[in-house]
Amino acid sequence: MSGGEHNARAWGHVVDFFDHERATSAQVYASEWFFLKDLLKDGISVLDVGCAQGGFAGVMAENLKDFRYTGIDISAEMIAKAKTRHPQAEFHHVGESDWSAIAGRQFDLVLVLGILHLHESWRDTIAQAWAHTAGTLLMDLREHEGPTIEDKAVSSFRMDFGGDEAGAAVRLPYVIVNAAEALAVVRRSCDGVSRLSHYGYYHPVSGAAETPVDKVMANVWCAQR
Ligand SMILES: C[S@@+](CC[C@H](N)C(=O)[O-])C[C@H]1O[C@@H](n2cnc3c(N)ncnc32)[C@H](O)[C@@H]1O
Repeated sequence: MSGGEHNARAWGHVVDFFDHERATSAQVYASEWFFLKDLLKDGISVLDVGCAQGGFAGVMAENLKDFRYTGIDISAEMIAKAKTRHPQAEFHHVGESDWSAIAGRQFDLVLVLGILHLHESWRDTIAQAWAHTAGTLLMDLREHEGPTIEDKAVSSFRMDFGGDEAGAAVRLPYVIVNAAEALAVVRRSCDGVSRLSHYGYYHPVSGAAETPVDKVMANVWCAQR
C-alpha cells in the first residue's frame, strides 16, 4: 500500500466525526475566521482541499447567496457523504498529490485547512494549491521554534478521535514545522505572492497527538496574488 493509500484509509476511521463537526460558521476556528470573514464575497469560486464531508460548502451557504464550491478529498467515504449532504456542490475523490480531476482550473479562494500537519507531502500540497489559486490561498500549519519534526515514529496522530477504538493503532504523521522554515516554504511555494499574512495562537497539541512537543503555534496563512 502506498503512503497516500494508507492515509486515505486512516481517514476512514473518523468519517462520522464530520457528521456534526466543522459544518457551520460557528464551528470555524477564530484563526480561520480572522481571514475568511473578509474573503466571502458573492459570486466567488472556492476549492476546498481535504474537504471531508464538504462542511465549508455549508459555511459558504450561511454567508453567501451565490458561490461555486468544489471539494476534493483522498477519502472515498468522505466524498460519498459530501455528495449526499451538498448535492449542489462539486466533489472529486482524488489520490494524494493527484489533482488531475481539476487540471488547469483556478479558483478565487482555495482552502487547505486541517490537513497540512497530517501528511508527509505537505510541501507539495502547498505548491499545488497555489497553482490552483487565482486569488487567495488559506491554509494552516502547526509550528514551533525548534527543528521541524515530520518523522511519524517521533510525532504521530492517532485516528481514534472520532470514537473508533480501532483507529488508535492507525497513525498519521503529526508534522510540526520550525516557524522560520514555515515562512520559507510558504514564500517559496507561493511564487508571485503579493501579500502574505498569518494569524494564529499558541496552544497545547491535540489530544490525539503523540509528540515530544507540548505546545504548538496553530498558524493560518493567507497568501494573496
Ligand atoms: C481534519 S479533516 C479536515 C476537514 C476540513 N478541511 C476542515 O478543516 O474541517 C482532513 C480531511 O482531509 C483529507 N485529506 C488528508 N490529506 C489530504 C490530501 N493530501 N489531499 C486531499 N485530502 C486530504 C482527509 O481525508 C480528511 O477528510
